[in-house]
Amino acid sequence: MVTRKQFDDYMMPVYNPAHFIPVKAKGSIVWDSKNKKYIDFASGIAVTSLGHCYPPLVKVLNDQSKKIWHLSNAMTNAPALNLAKTLCKHTFADKVFFANSGAEAMEGAVKTARKYANQKYGKGKNEIVAFADAFHGRTMMTIALNGSERMTKGFGPMPSGIKHHPYNEIKGLDKVITKKTAAVVLELVQGEAGIIKAKRNFISKIKKLCKEKNVLIIIDEVQSGVGRTGTLFAYEQFNIKPDILTCAKGLGNGFPIGAILTKDHIAQSMQVGAHGTTFGGNPLACSVALEVINSMAKKRLLSNVMKKEKLFIKYLNTMNKKLNCFERINTAGLWIGCKLKVTENINLDSVLQQCYKNGLMVLKANNNTIRIAPSLIIEDKLIKSGLAIIEKSIIQLQKA
Ligand SMILES: Cc1ncc(COP(=O)(O)O)c(C=O)c1O
Repeated sequence: MVTRKQFDDYMMPVYNPAHFIPVKAKGSIVWDSKNKKYIDFASGIAVTSLGHCYPPLVKVLNDQSKKIWHLSNAMTNAPALNLAKTLCKHTFADKVFFANSGAEAMEGAVKTARKYANQKYGKGKNEIVAFADAFHGRTMMTIALNGSERMTKGFGPMPSGIKHHPYNEIKGLDKVITKKTAAVVLELVQGEAGIIKAKRNFISKIKKLCKEKNVLIIIDEVQSGVGRTGTLFAYEQFNIKPDILTCAKGLGNGFPIGAILTKDHIAQSMQVGAHGTTFGGNPLACSVALEVINSMAKKRLLSNVMKKEKLFIKYLNTMNKKLNCFERINTAGLWIGCKLKVTENINLDSVLQQCYKNGLMVLKANNNTIRIAPSLIIEDKLIKSGLAIIEKSIIQLQKA
């Protein structure tokens, strides 16, 4: 049997995982190696949006596993093509590139934007504007986009040509987005920062400046995409159309896949050989992802996300009235951030550990925020039970 101690013996120490070891899961319930049961308010990190082992996904994965597992991109790949067609049908996009993760999709998105700007406007147009407190991944380009010293320290030299600006700050945007800017990289809801939504006037200003100065808008929907906010993609609610969009997490429901979506005229700047990947477009991943998108459409699932969001808000507000434990509750569909009032006994780690003890998996975000990202089809009864565990955990800590 594997133990948590063995993790420290064999794995690079970049993670500090929980002390229990999940071994089995179904829907929104996870069991650990000691057969203890947990309600899942984490979904990995906002990944298993249709719950664990969702039967239609298990079926397509099994079926595809008997047909073909891998194809190089020297071949036309039917599952990848079917998924691309479906993504184009449901979004602004005309063309898709498949990657393996969110960060890889972001890398490709920035490459695409720079290549397009270079070809259309010449070499000088290559700067990328990103925002404070963003999270775009852990590769060199994406940590440079994140911009926080916490993630870049010790890894320099960083890729150049990136400028940062405070999120939701209009003042000074016109000085940062210039004729030299190739693209603005934007999250419409900053997840890692605590579920912070972009303000309408901030978006309008970005749109206006990008139009005036021929700048592409890259929207990072790696975490917000595929139903998490109650629409297939968050941009549908924010009165903005991306030129390039990235998605990953929820797309494969746990089977690794990332995607870049864009318009035809932008895609045309990426000629044969301009970009590529060995595993992107994997037939197993694409079959699963196609079923994810189709399941979302079939099940009227997205309108239920908004209903379940209201349930969370109602219960969390009641809890906060009773316990006075949150400074703020932010929500964007089934993506919820509860900023804790930190006291001697209550902080993000103590609440998380107590929730684990009491049988609930929940996430952290920055800024002392408990992040909740359950399956989009979690049963209402489990929402109530999970929230009761948060309440019980905070009461126990307040009394400790
Ligand atoms: C908004 C956003 N972009 C990019 C990434 C990076 O994705 P990945 O971890 O799959 O590389 C993440 C991951 O958390 C994310 O939340």
